[in-house]
Amino acid sequence: MSDTVRIFEVGPRDGLQNEKTPVSVADRIAFIEALLDAGLHTIEVGAFVSPKAIPQMVNSDKVLRGVSHRKDGEFAVLVPNEKGYAAAHAAGAREIAVFAAASESFSRANINCSIAESIERFMPVMTRARADGIKVRGYVSCVLGCPYEGEIKPEAVVDVAKALWDLGCYEISLGDTIGVGTPLKSRQLLRAVSGVVPMASLAMHFHDTYGQALANLYAGMEEGARVIDSAAGGLGGCPFAPGATGNVATEDVVYMLEGTGIKTGVDMTKLVAATNQISKLIGRAPASRVANALNAKGRAANNQ
Ligand code: HMG
Ligand code: MG
Repeated sequence: MSDTVRIFEVGPRDGLQNEKTPVSVADRIAFIEALLDAGLHTIEVGAFVSPKAIPQMVNSDKVLRGVSHRKDGEFAVLVPNEKGYAAAHAAGAREIAVFAAASESFSRANINCSIAESIERFMPVMTRARADGIKVRGYVSCVLGCPYEGEIKPEAVVDVAKALWDLGCYEISLGDTIGVGTPLKSRQLLRAVSGVVPMASLAMHFHDTYGQALANLYAGMEEGARVIDSAAGGLGGCPFAPGATGNVATEDVVYMLEGTGIKTGVDMTKLVAATNQISKLIGRAPASRVANALNAKGRAANNQ
């Protein structure tokens, strides 16, 4: 597999949205700058959502403005409705992401409406984004399982992915929100969804609760998928997805890709430094196996 893969870094958004320890605007900006310096150029930096739903993402406008001088980055932010769109646009967003779910119960818990209502809610957002020349990504959550409904059929994912694609999203990110997927199910899902959205426009957004995310990504790559969402240090989670752990770690993805012959352009030493910096602030060790291995190696070398 010697071609290219696009890494879409979600650490500053998905990674921090469920953390108990608040991270200041200055520290969120420093984290994003460290990720850019490490060679990650497509980064989700915040969310224009209700502060009652996700207090951690308050001041995303300040974060977005604070990184806008970095011309080496493409920054995306989550937007659930027109109110969020107006705020994101005013803050200078060039890319937004709308987010739906393949499970009715999760849709209700996460954005307080049915799946059909969410698609309707996105319509005026899409119209305004098109007029303003803003790119829109679309997420589908619970593609391989739901915390409330359990098994989710691929057909349910296909319907929502098609609806978002038909609305005009340039890419559809398939979220295994609770990290229950397996390589076989991931393959079957990608085959099904690529019947309505081109494989090149599908992203794999896998949380790693059951430790399968890398295997699922590899299976997805064998099917032809070429976009991977990941979070530095394996940060991440959603308050409306109880029991789920973080996203697949960017370090682990980079290590796997480079080991597969796929160049990422990411400087691993700088990436681990970015992870260590944010881990210290939130007061817990990284979930990334690669970051932990390299940190242990560094400590051993220092003790010699
Ligand atoms: P609602 O309560 O139905 O909204 O929430 P509402 O329109 O009735 O408004 C209620 C209050 O929220 C009002 O304020 C609004 O002004 C305010 P009040 O009058 O009570 O003071 N409000 C807003 N404030 C700021 N920005 C906004 C906004 N909209 C309304 N955009 C709503 C509906 C969608 C707003 C809410 O449920 C919400 O914000 N949900 C977001 C949940 C979220 O961010 N979840 C995590 C991200 S999704 C995820 O992690 C999955 C993903 O990673 C993929 C995967 O892993 O599967 C993407
Ligand atoms: Mg997620």
